[in-house]
Parts: sequence; C-alpha cells; structure tokens
Amino acid sequence: MTASADRKLFSPVQIGAITLQHRVVMSPLTRSRSEQPGDVPGPLMLEYYSQRASEGGLIVTEATTIAIAGRGWYGAPGLYSDAQVAGWRKIVDAVHAKGGFLFSQLWHTGRSSHVDMRDGAQPAGPSVVPSYWLNAEPVISTPTGWKKPSPHRAIEIAEIPGIIEDYRKAAERAKAAGFDGVEVHSANGYLLDEFLQDGSNHRTDAYGGVIENRARLLLEVTEAVVSVWGGDRVGVRIGPGGTWNQMSDSSPDALFDYVAAQLNRFGLAYLHIVEPRVKGNVVIVEGQDPIATERLRKIFKGKIISAGGYEPDTAETAVEKGDADAVAFGRHFISNPDLPKRIKLGLPLSDYDRKTFYTFEARGYTDYPSYDRQSGAVLADPFCPQLHKPAFYLDCRPEADGGPSSASDVVRCAAKNKALVLEAFDTLFNKRDYAAAERFWSPHYIQHSAHIAPGRDGLFNLVKSAPPNLKYEPGAIVAENDFVMVHGRFSNNGRPVSWIAADILRIKDGVLVEHWDVLQDEATHESSKSGLPMFGETFVSAASA
Ligand SMILES: Cc1cc2nc3c(=O)[nH]c(=O)nc-3n(C[C@H](O)[C@H](O)[C@H](O)COP(=O)(O)O)c2cc1C
Repeated sequence: MTASADRKLFSPVQIGAITLQHRVVMSPLTRSRSEQPGDVPGPLMLEYYSQRASEGGLIVTEATTIAIAGRGWYGAPGLYSDAQVAGWRKIVDAVHAKGGFLFSQLWHTGRSSHVDMRDGAQPAGPSVVPSYWLNAEPVISTPTGWKKPSPHRAIEIAEIPGIIEDYRKAAERAKAAGFDGVEVHSANGYLLDEFLQDGSNHRTDAYGGVIENRARLLLEVTEAVVSVWGGDRVGVRIGPGGTWNQMSDSSPDALFDYVAAQLNRFGLAYLHIVEPRVKGNVVIVEGQDPIATERLRKIFKGKIISAGGYEPDTAETAVEKGDADAVAFGRHFISNPDLPKRIKLGLPLSDYDRKTFYTFEARGYTDYPSYDRQSGAVLADPFCPQLHKPAFYLDCRPEADGGPSSASDVVRCAAKNKALVLEAFDTLFNKRDYAAAERFWSPHYIQHSAHIAPGRDGLFNLVKSAPPNLKYEPGAIVAENDFVMVHGRFSNNGRPVSWIAADILRIKDGVLVEHWDVLQDEATHESSKSGLPMFGETFVSAASA
C-alpha cells in the first residue's frame, strides 16, 4: 500500500457528536492490567492508552465491568466505584491531551464468569445451558489463574430492571470520568449477546423466544444508556454470526437484521460490527470479505465501525467502498502504539505476542516501541498536536526568530533535541572527546547536582577522573517543551555496582544549558524493593556491573 495522505482512512468523519480526524479506531482490548484489588485503572494503563492516543483518533476502552454482578475477568477495570472513576479520569485526560477521543466499553459478562469473581455468587445468564461450562473451550480469568466457568443459573425476570440500572449507573460514572461516550458491549458471548442468540437463550418469557423478545434486553439497556448520554455519544457493538464463547444462533441474519433496524431509533454515534471471520481474537476464515458489515450497511442508518481481521489495505477498501465509516484494529494496536501513523506513512507493522495479551505487567503491554523509537528514524508525527506548536521546543522557536517554517520541521526539532542529548552524552562519557564535547555544552552551563562541581568544567573534570573504560548506556528518552529527560546506566565506573542516572536537560539554541540529575547505585535483584530492575528488563549482578 502506498503512503498517501489522500486515502479515505485519513479523511475526517463525524461520529455522532465527535469529529474524528482519521478512521483508524482502536478496538476494545481486554488486557488485564488494572490495579488489584479494586479493578482500578492505574498508571500502567494510563501509559498504555496515552501511547495509543492520536489527534482526532477514537479509542474504545477495554471491556469495563459495570457492577460486581457483571464481573468475570480478573484484571479487567471497572466503573462501579469512585476510585475507578478517578483512575479513568486521568486516562481520559491523557488521551484528550493528545487530541484523542475515548469511549468506555460497558460490560456485563453474564454466564461467562466464576464464583471467585463475584464474591462467591453463582454467575447468571439468560438460561441454564450446562454444555457451556462442560465444554473444554471457555475459560475464565480468576485471581488464581484460568478456570472453567462456574455452573450458571438463569436470571429471574424480576432481576432485569436491576441489571439495566447497573448499565445506567456505569454510564453515569463514565460521564463523571470525562469520557467522550460509551459503547454497549453486546458481542463475544457476554450477557447481552447471550440474550440475543438462541443457542444461549432458551427463555419462554418476554426476554426469550422470538427475535423481538431476545433483542429486548439490548434495546432496554441502550435506551437507559442513551438517557444518560444522548444517542450521539453512544455506540453499540454486536458480533453477527459470532461463535466465540460458545455462541450460536439458528437464524443469525434475521436476528442481526432486526437488531440493526431497531437500533436506528436511538440516533447512535455508531454501530460497531465484529466480522464473523474472527472468533474472539483469532481469524477463523482467512480472506473472507466483511460480510456482516456489507449486509447491515443496508439496514443501519448511522455510522458503522467495522472490526475483525482488518489489515491496512482491506480497511481502506472497506471505507472506500462505503461499507464502513471507520475500521477498528485490535491486535495490530497491541503491538503498534502508533498504528494510525504507521498506516498513514506506510510503515511496517510490528508483530504482537499472544502470550502477553492477558498477563499483568508492563512487558508485552507498554513496551512495544513506536516506529521512531524502534528505528531511530526521525519522522514527522502527523497526529501529535503539541508538536505543531512552534516554540514548544525552545530549539523550535517561531520562524520570525529564525526557527522552522513548517510543522514537520518543528517535529524534526523535537527529535533533534533528543539526538543532541544522546550525541553529547556519547561524546563526553563514552568517547571521552572533551574538545568535541564542548560544542554541546554552553560555556554558561548550569549543573544542579549534589556530586558534581558547578559549571561545564565541573562536569568535565568529574568525567576525566572516572576510569577510561566508563560506559554510558541510554535507556528511555523523552522530550517536552525545551526539556529532554534521559534514563541511563553508567558501568565500569570504578565501583562494584553500576550507577543509574536520571538526567533532565534544558536546551537552548542547540546546546545544553542546564542540567538536573539523580545518580544512584543500580539495585541488584536482591536489593530491589519492587522486584523490578531499574534499567532494561533484567538485573545485572553486582559482580558483573
Ligand atoms: C487481547 C484481546 C482482548 C480483547 N478484548 C475485547 C474486549 O474487551 N471487548 C471486545 O468487544 N472485544 C475484545 N477483543 C476483540 C477485539 O476488539 C477485536 O474485535 C478482535 O481482536 C478482532 O480484531 P483484529 O483482527 O483487528 O484483532 C479482544 C481481542 C484481543 C486480541
């Protein structure tokens, strides 16, 4: 596929009340990294969502538990407590700061749960279907690992208003957290899907039997959520013909045609359709066209986000053809935090590691690099709004002051600032070329440090006193405003352990003018309080440091 800015995937689209600048949506992805106990979104999740936010781009959160009674996945975040609202608020703010939009996916897992996830209570679904828990396939994430689903009971009709109320309250909490909207999760074999499909719904009351009855709960839930948000900030996700989680229906076309037609009455922001060529998170029919999207496009009157098994080229075809207004990517977004940019610029995509989809740590979650970090390339970021403000980096002052004349020049300056720091450190600490290093440090350089004498000479003299094979290794590096922060390791420093350094540099006119640092002995595995290494992914032993 060519890297062309003219592709429809990168044209704006109105989705209900929000205007997207591009149509590469992040699909809801359960990643099990909320803080426990409490299902609270914490700093790790914040970093993950912030990494994936793009200007004018839509992210649908991972499925989010609306109430303990709907809890069925250990590590999934919730929207049933104040602490969860506060945690989400920070994530919403981070996504907004990058110009992105965030919808919360509201989730009740229905029969797909385990007593350990529900304070000992039995899971409940539309009808008792023992083959569900007896089948080898479904497994539930619990505090003590993956387990077979507990035997479920049938939901009493008198309980249904309470379930709808749980959705309504969660929708209110999502509003309090500052989300841009909510998505009702009615796919993948969870509560609302279980009511829709007749393989799981054998009821004989007003919520079972004919299609009109099986669709009733979804429509009532949608109505309740719309009462909080207005239709133009609500999406609904369905999986026509979906078979994940033991789903089946005797007449899926008739069922989902009816659902799509009925949803028309709410003026929704979008209908989110998962193609049946995927089963949960696996493609089961290679090469199949987006058949569900094509079909429902003729019935649903609003915007359609299509998901399931898309690649950049097939996504472009789907929006060009007009079947979908936007395309949601799941697995590619896991391993490519900058996916919209990669697709826009025609850059290669990184592979995902299925083994870390549902683990509980940063590895396999926030450590997939952006293309820039991975390749060391300096690429204009077409989506990051801050970078379009001249003077955001001091080295990128306005054109009138001799600064860059285009947004991409400004972006290059940001990367330039980072490169400047890395080159300066390499020249001084590794190459020990003091004459060459002088051009990086201002003669008026200010050093704020407990262990380094003032001025440029103070720093240079310290390095001169270190063993000649001193080695500096940079780790994470970030730039904001006129500051660059770099995290690194000094080894061969003449001591039994390496030092870990956190340096903050202020840059002016292309040189380092001010510097704050923290330097401390690197923790060994035995001495690390958190059990985590301070640098990289592994510990160095004191002897080899
Ligand atoms: C790790 C993982 C977690 C997922 N969690 C959710 C979820 O919370 N809610 C949901 O509706 N779909 C979920 N899905 C399904 C994705 O949203 C998407 O429909 C599916 O991955 C197919 O899209 P893809 O081919 O682009 O990956 C998940 C998929 C994966 C891989």
